[in-house]
Amino acid sequence: MKEKINFKKFPDKNGRFGKYGGRFVAETLMPLLLDVEKQYAKAKSSKDFKKQLNYYFKNYTGRPSPLYYAERISKKIGNVKIYFKRDELNHTGAHKINNCIGQVLLALKMGKKRIVAETGAGQHGLATATVCALFNLKCVVYMGSLDIKRQAPNVFKMKLLGAEIVPVNSGTSTLKDAMNEALRDWVSNVKDTFYVIGTVAGPHPYPMMVRDFQSVIGTEAKKQILEYEKKLPNYLIACIGGGSNALGLFYPFLNDQKVKIIGVEAGGEGLKTKRHAASLSQGKPGFLHGNYTYLLQNSDGQIIDAHSISAGLDYPGIGPEHSWLKDIGRIKYESATDNEAIEAFKICSKLEGIIPALEPSHALAYILKNKNKFKKNDIIIMNMCGRGDKDLFSISKKLNIKA
Ligand SMILES: Cc1ncc(COP(=O)(O)O)c(C=O)c1O
Repeated sequence: MKEKINFKKFPDKNGRFGKYGGRFVAETLMPLLLDVEKQYAKAKSSKDFKKQLNYYFKNYTGRPSPLYYAERISKKIGNVKIYFKRDELNHTGAHKINNCIGQVLLALKMGKKRIVAETGAGQHGLATATVCALFNLKCVVYMGSLDIKRQAPNVFKMKLLGAEIVPVNSGTSTLKDAMNEALRDWVSNVKDTFYVIGTVAGPHPYPMMVRDFQSVIGTEAKKQILEYEKKLPNYLIACIGGGSNALGLFYPFLNDQKVKIIGVEAGGEGLKTKRHAASLSQGKPGFLHGNYTYLLQNSDGQIIDAHSISAGLDYPGIGPEHSWLKDIGRIKYESATDNEAIEAFKICSKLEGIIPALEPSHALAYILKNKNKFKKNDIIIMNMCGRGDKDLFSISKKLNIKA
């Protein structure tokens, strides 16, 4: 990347990251989005809002999450020092709650009484249901019927927390279809409802808003690594579904040009098989869920089904800021397959006593398979963005462990 860009200045006032992003929605949605944008701008500059957010981050979520030196895995690889940013230790087990607290506090400020959300792995649905229980809000979660089956523990928890789960049977019965239904619900219930989007996708201002709430991950990590190592890391590495945990870690480092950044997409059964979710490396730009971004699509512009063993990465699109960061070369996007992720899942459990979610297992798989590419003493921060309890049963056969 030759040009010097100040990444803090994006998106522009039209919600664009270069040519990506924007707000391509039905007219009925426009006033809602403009209202969310206005209210978010107010909240962002309000000391009270920041104070409230920090209070819940600290006392409810358990932030700051530790930055942990994964010594045994580092030694297995050889020369490098890998740190895990342990967002799997957050209340509800993943990074998703950072964003939910932010958006629900905003919804409360706007006087909304009902929350809708979409979910894939169930982690965003679980986090939304949790925060709605906390603030006594009605919560409706749209979830693909395939995901309901493979993420049963989270469905059970959401119901216990009082959320209504609406199964979605259209399309591939996964995350993209759930998001379509949640958007439809929002349009029909504009008065009392707020749509809490779970990743850095959707129409402006959502990609920016979710990024800002998740940036607490990178802000903390920067402070922690400077304290432990007295210098910035050589690499940041995170898995990519819609892209929120990754941008949360990456965003505060984007202007630090020396820090190399790698996003790891789901390579599924292999990039050549077409059974994958690698929208950045294999897709083309197009429109989905109100924004312009890289998508898996056929030559007629029809969205192709995504596949990943990990429900949270199984999305044919990607947040628009990532599309821009890819094109300008600030971030490299690579992939890891289902099998490589399972191998990393097992290694992390055995060597570190940390059972990772399948999603961050992709990030670890990338590090493990590319161990020879790193230089001696390289410092890597990897986002351990979720814990694996939700995945154990769905992959138990592949793990070959008898209860
Ligand atoms: C633990 C975990 N990591 C990652 C993701 C992918 O989402 P994103 O790319 O927005 O972080 C999910 C999505 O459900 C998840 O549950």
